[in-house]
Amino acid sequence: MLTKLTGALRTALGCAHVRSGADVQAMDVGWHPDNLGAGLVALPANTAEVAEVVRLCREHGVAIVPQGGRTGLVGGSISHVGEVIVSLARMSHIECLDAVSRIAVVQGGVTLESLQGAAAAEGLEPGIDIPSRGSATIAGMVSTNAGGIMAFRNGVMRHRVLGLEAVLADGSVYSDLTRVVKNSAGYDLKHLFIGAEGSLGLVTRVVLKLDPLPQASATALLGLPSVQAALETIRWAMSIETGHLRAAEAMWQRFIQLTAKAQHWSEPGMALDQPIFLLMSLGGAHEQPLRDAFETLFGQVLEHYPDATGIIASSARQERDLWRLREDTDALYRVHPAAPSYDVSVPLSSLADYLDKVLAGLARIDSALQPYVFGHLADGNLHIILSRAGALAPDMAARVESVLYGTLQALGGSFSAEHGVGSKRIGAMFDTLDPGKLATMKTIKNMLDPDRLMNPGKVLPAS
Ligand code: LAC
Ligand code: ZN
Repeated sequence: MLTKLTGALRTALGCAHVRSGADVQAMDVGWHPDNLGAGLVALPANTAEVAEVVRLCREHGVAIVPQGGRTGLVGGSISHVGEVIVSLARMSHIECLDAVSRIAVVQGGVTLESLQGAAAAEGLEPGIDIPSRGSATIAGMVSTNAGGIMAFRNGVMRHRVLGLEAVLADGSVYSDLTRVVKNSAGYDLKHLFIGAEGSLGLVTRVVLKLDPLPQASATALLGLPSVQAALETIRWAMSIETGHLRAAEAMWQRFIQLTAKAQHWSEPGMALDQPIFLLMSLGGAHEQPLRDAFETLFGQVLEHYPDATGIIASSARQERDLWRLREDTDALYRVHPAAPSYDVSVPLSSLADYLDKVLAGLARIDSALQPYVFGHLADGNLHIILSRAGALAPDMAARVESVLYGTLQALGGSFSAEHGVGSKRIGAMFDTLDPGKLATMKTIKNMLDPDRLMNPGKVLPAS
């Protein structure tokens, strides 16, 4: 069955663009060892070819696993023998960058970093940023509804997408390449595909909103005594008038100590002994006023929290070094390979209390689980990584999930802030979400993909 399909795919795309065997083994497997498990990768060049691949797979009853950068964190891209991987690697063309309308039209395989570069040349930016910018593709980010660093002010991917095109399970093309913010013409169905992880269709082209890129930035790292102090500092920073707050990332002590060690980073006068560290960036017209604004903010912080510590980057290089402390999450996985990780969001007013309870609950299960905590504090998104290598035994995993997720729904938070559901968090989703929402999700899946051809076993169970 697969041999026949492989032949048909090679006829449709050209031999070089359907890989199997050693050619697949030579590819970068990305974040999950099973990403390339299918061993068969189709690389269409445009929407028509994606549609043709879907039609052929349907004809042969073979399921499709879409892949972008393969750096998703919840197993949304894992694949098995008997499936076909559809990689958008060849669909990496920025079709239009309209500086007047402040929009970009891109093929799904464009990486965030290349869009950021192209937009910057026009004095613009996509208004969304994630540490995996070099690998993450726009279709992948749309499909996981990525969030990241700027979400607290600009929203998540869902709020940046003006229009999109997707190939549906029957091989037809859903096309809504709207380029304007205002569009109340009927059901806004693009949202079905955003965050669907390819389970309802393959996103092929996207129209994104762009924002003006500030000409200057400044970055500061503050060491603070508590979550409350960090949240208060963010509130003060948001009212700075000379610039706007672009990032407010938090690193709890164990996390920054680990990344600082990995980076051989140290700074006189900045001992890493405070409970929490806040990395903030301001954007504006000129650097010096932004740095001055940070000085003033630091003065304000010291009035309330005399033990606070802080540094303001005085060069682009220092700025980059500070950001590496936050973004070098690989350092963590090098110490604890495949460590269990969680990605929650919590309303800010409940966050300190939530985290206290989580830390106490984990310590009760096993004091060795003491987690590393970091994340996008300004929107309440915490990444919590346990200090151990490899997956937890099922009973232990259930106890940990009940500590982490038990109160989240009632608080109005989320068990999956920005990484998606993939194959890893389906159980948590069924434990957490309202049955009415789950039933509606299944109804929509049944309507759009009755034969379960589109990324089966992701977001919803395979059957
Ligand atoms: C980050 C990824 C883990 O924020 O979401 O580094
Ligand atoms: Zn994140």
